[in-house]
Amino acid sequence: MTKKIAALLAALTLGSSMTAPVLAQQTAKTQASQSAEARADALVKAMTLEEKLQLVHGYFPPLAKPVPPIAMIPSAGHIPGIPRLGIPTLRESDASLGVANQIEQRKGDVATALPASIATAATFNPRLAFEGGAMIGAEARAKTFNVLLAGGVNLTRDPWNGRNFEYLGEDPLLAGVMVGEHIKGVQSNHIVSTIKHFALNSQETGRTVLDARIGTAQLRESDLLAFQLGIEAGQPASVMCAYNKVNGDYACENDWLLNKVLKQDWAYKGWVMSDWGAVHSTEKAAINGLDQDSGQELDDRMFFDTKFAEAVKAGRIPMSRLDDMVRRILFGVIDSGLMDNPVPESAQPIDYARHAEVAQRTAEEGIVLLKNEGNLLPLAKSAKKIVLIGAHADVGVLSGGGSSQVRSVGGAPVEIPLTKGAAASFARITWHASSPLKAIQALAPGASVTYVDGSDPKAAAAAAKGADVAVVFAWAWRTEAQDPESMALPENQDALIDAVAGANKKTLVVVEAGGPVLMPWVSRVPAILQAWYPGQRGGEAIANILFGDVDPSGRLPITFPVAVKQAPRPEPLGLAELRAAETRRDAGDKTVYGMSGGVAPFTVEYPEGADVGYRWYAARNQKPLFPFGYGLTYTSFRYANLKVSDGVRLTVEFDVTNSGKRVGADVPQLYVEAKSAAGTKAYRLAGFEKVRLQPGETRHVALTVDPRVIARFDNTAPGWIVDAGAYPLRVGHFAGDAALEGSARLDRMTAKP
Ligand code: BGC
Repeated sequence: MTKKIAALLAALTLGSSMTAPVLAQQTAKTQASQSAEARADALVKAMTLEEKLQLVHGYFPPLAKPVPPIAMIPSAGHIPGIPRLGIPTLRESDASLGVANQIEQRKGDVATALPASIATAATFNPRLAFEGGAMIGAEARAKTFNVLLAGGVNLTRDPWNGRNFEYLGEDPLLAGVMVGEHIKGVQSNHIVSTIKHFALNSQETGRTVLDARIGTAQLRESDLLAFQLGIEAGQPASVMCAYNKVNGDYACENDWLLNKVLKQDWAYKGWVMSDWGAVHSTEKAAINGLDQDSGQELDDRMFFDTKFAEAVKAGRIPMSRLDDMVRRILFGVIDSGLMDNPVPESAQPIDYARHAEVAQRTAEEGIVLLKNEGNLLPLAKSAKKIVLIGAHADVGVLSGGGSSQVRSVGGAPVEIPLTKGAAASFARITWHASSPLKAIQALAPGASVTYVDGSDPKAAAAAAKGADVAVVFAWAWRTEAQDPESMALPENQDALIDAVAGANKKTLVVVEAGGPVLMPWVSRVPAILQAWYPGQRGGEAIANILFGDVDPSGRLPITFPVAVKQAPRPEPLGLAELRAAETRRDAGDKTVYGMSGGVAPFTVEYPEGADVGYRWYAARNQKPLFPFGYGLTYTSFRYANLKVSDGVRLTVEFDVTNSGKRVGADVPQLYVEAKSAAGTKAYRLAGFEKVRLQPGETRHVALTVDPRVIARFDNTAPGWIVDAGAYPLRVGHFAGDAALEGSARLDRMTAKP
């Protein structure tokens, strides 16, 4: 240790005996060159007990009554800073898809709204995940937020999960890579990002009471692998633990999850913050790994406030553990760069026009062309009559609901409040002001482009008759806190599509939904675009794809089933418990409130283990409607010249050629057959790359495989094991495709957990 650092440490341990501004200045200047760990250590030594206690619990601004009064921005959370040590106040905002502003709690405060995260996953383009994160981070900083509740990476285990739109699909490699890039983007602004919800918050029904049960090795090979890859790549300053229980213990007081997996095995140095209202104890939570209680007013009781202080003073929570909690928070604040780059005191101007381009590019690359019979698309700009039907396509595009809701630039042309359900208090069905009608008209100025609302199938069919093309905009709203009652399109839309398709052979369907919907009309329409929730430039993005100004290049990050019975669980478990609570509430039972909503605890088994999504379908020989990784383009791609380098490390090389007549982007995918801890064999996505090629152009692609993606997790070893032997592999356009086939001979490999 240099003399200077030793002197500083000595000074810091004197704590409050130095005058405040002097100490803060020295802290900032001299410590910038030290490691984040050393700086966090020194600060902990300099802090009084009261100061330490202040950092381990956060206020929920809408409900908080902190003493003494402090100025909180209406948002998700607030943790007062410690000015004498230069520790900033933490201002938390939700930010999965943009800086959120649910039910417009900050009147008039708009932000750029990206498409749903599932659309970002569908781009298969990590660069765009980074750019989206960087854009959100820049806006957050300009709005004085410095901790972003972003980085949702729960794997899609059930196609109906209400929150799938906020996540990155069903594959751990894709989701892990994309979330890592998103977090890097956010933190490139020297603010904190989280990764969430750790772990297995895989359904919304009863999320605060359910016990998610799964084999621990299988969890490592699936959901936890996505977190592990994301944390390694993105280095988020914080991890948000989930509402639910995992194998018997609440995630926010789960020793195995927090202490063993995250902090010991993965050597994670940042802090664990709870989800809002996810804390159920004081000593147990603190000892088992929770470092900070978020939005404490939402817990049934405030566990990390006075009760926590008492437990520390009585020795039930050791001082060393409190120090560790504070050290972790400070490490994250320092390591992300926030400590040395405080956010501005007041809101700064934002270049919304430039940021909108990121939203548009993400939407354009994320939209998936599912069907294009007879090359109906791209549409000719010489079309004379185009009829648009439904989903408020005259004024906007739909977004998903809940804490991720952005009040987008341009406002909300349609906003429908909810009258019932767990999301009613904080979600409205919201459209972003990006009109497909206007965008289509702008690209086909010579055409008559008209809109009918679709409420009357007969009227819509009559309007569609004789048009060059009829475009039905189908919609299915999804939200945090609720799972949908059905995966079918709501409000008679199946009948609408049938009627329009019957009246005009050139009927195409643009689906605005947070995930798959049932498509009983799939064979009756020649073209289908999955537009997800396409964000605040969604209208423009859809129009550009329809007319071919942009080539569709999105690929499905989740499998689309033919029918719900193909999914591992055809409907959310716990519906009976939910209905029972609702009946009691309707009968006037006042105990039916709060985070649990009076729902009795229940168990959700995940017997599919690591065989999530496409692996589940393959294992059961089920043919889905559209497979994982699927998506058409306006050109075509061929693969050739497979070369496998194996032994200790697996690298697979091949050539991709644009064999069609138009420029376009492809996503060649490598699948390797591997054995799980449970002994099941499945082809797993082991690599992918997005390549943009001119007609006739060939690109050489080399994919090196992270061994953990094809390993089995051994709880006894413990760690990752790739058994020696032959591994069949395929390069294809989607899961199950085998454009090129080969095999690798791998040596035995092991890796730490
Ligand atoms: C959600 C989190 C969110 C938090 C704060 C919770 O209900 O599950 O994703 O970050 O609220 O708004």
